Amino acid sequence: MDLHNIQLTLGSGKIPSVGLGTFTYFGKHGSPDDIEAAVDVALEAGYRHFESAWAYGTQEAIGRALEKKITEGVLDRKDVFITTKLWNTHHNPKLVLGELKDSLKQLRTSYVDMFLMHCPTGQKDQDLSGDVIFATDKSDYAYYPLEDVWKAMERCHQLGLAKNIGLSNFTIEQTKRIFERCTIKPSNMQIEVSPYFLNERLVKFCLGRRMTVTSFASLGCPSNPVRLAGKQGPLEDPVLIEIAKLKGKSVAQVILRFLIQYGCSVIPKSITPARIWENMNASTYFFLKARHI
Ligand SMILES: NC(=O)c1ccc[n+]([C@@H]2O[C@H](COP(=O)([O-])OP(=O)(O)OC[C@H]3O[C@@H](n4cnc5c(N)ncnc54)[C@H](OP(=O)(O)O)[C@@H]3O)[C@@H](O)[C@H]2O)c1
Repeated sequence: MDLHNIQLTLGSGKIPSVGLGTFTYFGKHGSPDDIEAAVDVALEAGYRHFESAWAYGTQEAIGRALEKKITEGVLDRKDVFITTKLWNTHHNPKLVLGELKDSLKQLRTSYVDMFLMHCPTGQKDQDLSGDVIFATDKSDYAYYPLEDVWKAMERCHQLGLAKNIGLSNFTIEQTKRIFERCTIKPSNMQIEVSPYFLNERLVKFCLGRRMTVTSFASLGCPSNPVRLAGKQGPLEDPVLIEIAKLKGKSVAQVILRFLIQYGCSVIPKSITPARIWENMNASTYFFLKARHI
C-alpha cells in the first residue's frame, strides 16, 4: 500500500487525507514561482491533493507545475485530486459556470475533483478580469439565495466539470438548507478546524451527513496578518510541544495527525521544502490508529 496516498473515505465523498494549501495572502507569503516549486516538491513527497480557489491567484502556478509532470509522463491527471472554490463575487447563478471554466483554464485541466462554494456570503457581481474583492462595507454584499447558487454548482457537476461539489464556511443551518433543496448532496465541507478551534458541532454534523470535512488553518494560520501579534498559536503550545518531544515528531506533525484522526483531511500550506515533506509524513506516522481504509 502506498502510505503517501491513503484515501480518507467518509460517507459518499472521498478525499486524500493530506493536501497542499496554496493561499499566500496575495503574494505576501510566497510568489507564484514559490507555489509552482512547492507543488513540484509536494508531488515528489507523495502529495496527490492540491487545494486552491479562484480568489487565491495561485491556480496558474499549480496548473503549470501539474501540466509539466503530466506532459513528462510521470503523472496521470486522474491520480491528482484538485479542489477549487467559487468566489463570493460570482454567486449570481449566471456567473458560476463561467468562473469554474476560468479556474479550469488557469489550472490547465478539463475538470476539478472538488468545487466548493468558498463562503455562504455573496458579494456584488464582478467581472472575471477584475481584482479579487473582499467585502469591507455592507454595500459590497449581494444576496443570492444559497439554494439557487447550489443549483448552478450542480449544473457544473452535471456537465462533468466538477466531479464533486461542496461547501466551505457554512453553518449547520445554511448547510441544512442546501440538503433540503438539493438534487446533488454536498460531499465536502472545508472549515477552520485546529487544536484551538475544534468546531465540534459542525464537524459532527457534516460527518453525520456523510460529508468529508477538510480542516483549514490546521496549524493556526501563523502567517495570517489578522492574527493577534504575540498571541500563542498551536505550534507554540507547551502541551503539544511536550507531546512532539515524547513522540520524536514535530509539533506540526502532531497537530496534523491529530486532525486526521479526528476525522478531517488537512491542507497545510507551505512553500518550504522541508515542511512540505514534514507535513506529508504526519500522515504515515500514526498509520495504525488512523480511520483510513
Ligand atoms: N476555505 C477557506 O475559507 C480557507 C481559509 C483559509 C485557508 N484555506 C486553505 O487552507 C490552507 C491552509 O490554511 P492557512 O494557509 O491559512 O494556514 P496553515 O496551513 O495553518 O498555516 C500555513 C503557515 O504555516 C507555515 N507552516 C507550514 N508547515 C509548517 C510546519 N511544518 N512547521 C511550521 N510552520 C509551518 C507556513 O509557512 P511557509 O509557507 O513559509 O512554510 C504558512 O505560513 C490555505 O493555504 C488555503 O488553501 C481555506
